[in-house]
Amino acid sequence: MNQPGDFLDEITSGRRSVRKYRAEVPPRGAIEAMIECAAKAPSPSNSQPVRFVRIVSPPLLEALHGEMLRARRELLQRVEAEGGSKKTRNLVNACFRCSEFMFRAPVLIAAGTVPVHAGFSSRLAEAKILRADRRGERDLDITLGLALKGFLLKGRALGLGTCILTAPLLFLSDVRKTLGLEDIRISCFVTVGFPDDTPPFIERKSAAELYREI
Ligand SMILES: Cc1cc2nc3c(=O)[nH]c(=O)nc-3n(C[C@H](O)[C@H](O)[C@H](O)COP(=O)(O)O)c2cc1C
Repeated sequence: MNQPGDFLDEITSGRRSVRKYRAEVPPRGAIEAMIECAAKAPSPSNSQPVRFVRIVSPPLLEALHGEMLRARRELLQRVEAEGGSKKTRNLVNACFRCSEFMFRAPVLIAAGTVPVHAGFSSRLAEAKILRADRRGERDLDITLGLALKGFLLKGRALGLGTCILTAPLLFLSDVRKTLGLEDIRISCFVTVGFPDDTPPFIERKSAAELYREI
C-alpha cells in the first residue's frame, strides 16, 4: 500500500543526470513549470535571489563554446609546459567531455543568483556590525541548490531529463562577461531535454552513513 510521501520517493529515485537528449525541444510551458517549482524554494527572508537564463542566441552559444575550447587548449599547453602526466592531461579532457555536451542539449540554462542583503549576516555586515565575509555567498548557494532541486524534480515529473554542470566554469574565466550578465553570479549550467538514454542508478550512501546524533 502506498504511504504518504511515496510520490516524492518515486520522483527523487527516478531522477538521473541525463547527458544525451533527443533533438525535440521541450515545450516552453514545461520549462516555465520547472521554474515555477524552483520559485517555491525557501530563501533568506524570502529574498528570492535565484535567476535562470536560457541561452538561445547562436552567437552567444558560439562565444561560450569558443572560449571553452580556447581554455582547454591553454590548460593542455600548461600541462605540457609543467611536464604534467598523461593522467593530468586525461583529467582536463574528461572535464571537457563533462562540459561540452551542454551544447548538444535542446535547452541550456545558466543559473545563478543576484546579490541580496537578506540573511542576518549580510544585513549586519551592511550595518557595519559584522565584517562582510562569505556567509552571504553561502546563503545564496544553499538557496540556489534548493531552487535547482525543484527545477530538476519537476523536470523528472514531466518526463524531461536534466543535468547540472559546474565543470564548464573551469574553462570560463569570466562567464558573466561572455554572456553579458553583469548582474548575476552564475554558479552552474543546467541542461534540459527529452532523454535519449537511461543512465543507470548510481549507488547512494545509506541514511545511517549520513546521519549521526550527538
Ligand atoms: C553541483 C553539481 C555539479 C555537477 N557538475 C557536473 C558537470 O559539470 N558535468 C556533468 O556531466 N555532471 C555534473 N553533475 C552531475 C553529477 O555528476 C551527478 O549528479 C552525480 O554523478 C550523480 O548522478 P545522478 O545525478 O544521475 O544521480 C553535477 C552535479 C552537481 C550537484
